[in-house]
Amino acid sequence: MPLGQPLRLGRHSVFPPLLMAPMLDITNRAFRTLVRGYGGCGLFYTEMLNARRLPTESAQSPFWQGLGVERDVMVQLLGDDPEALARSVERLLPLDPFGFDWNLGCARKKITHWGWGAALLENPQATARGLRALRQATDKPLTVKIRLPEHGHPDLFKSFIKLLENEGVDAITVHARTAADGFKRPARWDAIAQVKSWTKVPVIGNGDVQSAADAQAMFQKTGCDAVMIGRGAVGKPYLFKTIINQASGATEPAPEAAKVLEAMLTCLDTALETPKGAREFKVFCRYFAQTLPVPHWFWAPLQSMTLGPELAKRARVFFKK
Ligand SMILES: Cc1cc2nc3c(=O)[nH]c(=O)nc-3n(C[C@H](O)[C@H](O)[C@H](O)COP(=O)(O)O)c2cc1C
Repeated sequence: MPLGQPLRLGRHSVFPPLLMAPMLDITNRAFRTLVRGYGGCGLFYTEMLNARRLPTESAQSPFWQGLGVERDVMVQLLGDDPEALARSVERLLPLDPFGFDWNLGCARKKITHWGWGAALLENPQATARGLRALRQATDKPLTVKIRLPEHGHPDLFKSFIKLLENEGVDAITVHARTAADGFKRPARWDAIAQVKSWTKVPVIGNGDVQSAADAQAMFQKTGCDAVMIGRGAVGKPYLFKTIINQASGATEPAPEAAKVLEAMLTCLDTALETPKGAREFKVFCRYFAQTLPVPHWFWAPLQSMTLGPELAKRARVFFKK
């Protein structure tokens, strides 16, 4: 089945309507470059960036790497303070990102504790204040990424979606799980279809897409306007291309794990020698290895390693197997 229409984001359109999910410690410049190299991904996101820190962050901040050069990256903001959100947008606008996304879905306790992320799902007033500030700060695409609310009647959720629409968001990404679900239970795709039926705003479906067949099924079962992929695309950074191939009837063998690893190390380049780069490479390895039976002898020593080249050596031994 061919892929659907481009995803409309305000005056812009995104094709293919396949998006790489924002992921802390993973969707950095190197990983985006890796995925972009395989092709098929229409839009990328930074990891979540703290709006309290962004306005005063150094111009050389590693969190910004690639912005100003990459034209297909949404910046994801985290926080609830309208002033900080607006000032973060103003700070980053000169780097001309594709647009901005506001995180309304992070369920980590240390985030929701501040009233940020998924806590905002239960605070429509704060959500409206934040969106007004963001909408005033930019006419670039503005999206939100939500998850399913934990409490409350479905009518409350419906009115929350209407609020997002009324405050002028250009798309709503639905990670179809509640905070309590964690990754323990399957994503509830029926909720994506439900949100789609409630709003005129484009809906981006997210949760548990691990293969081309899953992506097609999500489009078909939910009617979503785009599919966003997280963990599945770390395990297979070429997954977006596989989806495109399948949609057009083309076949291409999947690259070997060792080749993908080498490509990732090339993309990391000297970043691997920094503590941040080394730590993020470790996180990449964890998700990259998710489809393989990873033996204890690989993980145990890896956990205590902190130096990038040492980690790379270990990963090469493992992924060449
Ligand atoms: C390691 C990791 C980091 C994540 N970081 C973020 C983040 O910074 N912002 C966000 O909105 N979601 C974050 N998520 C959630 C993903 O964007 C996505 O919603 C979730 O993984 C479900 O999609 P998937 O089933 O395709 O992985 C993260 C998920 C993982 C596994």
